[in-house]
Amino acid sequence: MPRLIRHDAEGPIRIDPQDKPVFICACGLTKNLPFCDGSHKACKSETEGVVSVYDAERERVIEERAEG
Ligand code: FES
Repeated sequence: MPRLIRHDAEGPIRIDPQDKPVFICACGLTKNLPFCDGSHKACKSETEGVVSVYDAERERVIEERAEG
């Protein structure tokens, strides 16, 4: 499901080689970019067929817009 989030970064984040697997956030809701912090669980409550617009803290949906 699509979502809109505020994202202000203007460049890459360096990730040095790791001994263990690392999980990179793909949902955009993490508060620990670029790493997944489990915030993607909120995506499960998003409504199918709409765009979920999140607040600046990426904590809650403040608006739902028609997709398209
Ligand atoms: S994939 Fe975004 S917080 Fe896990």
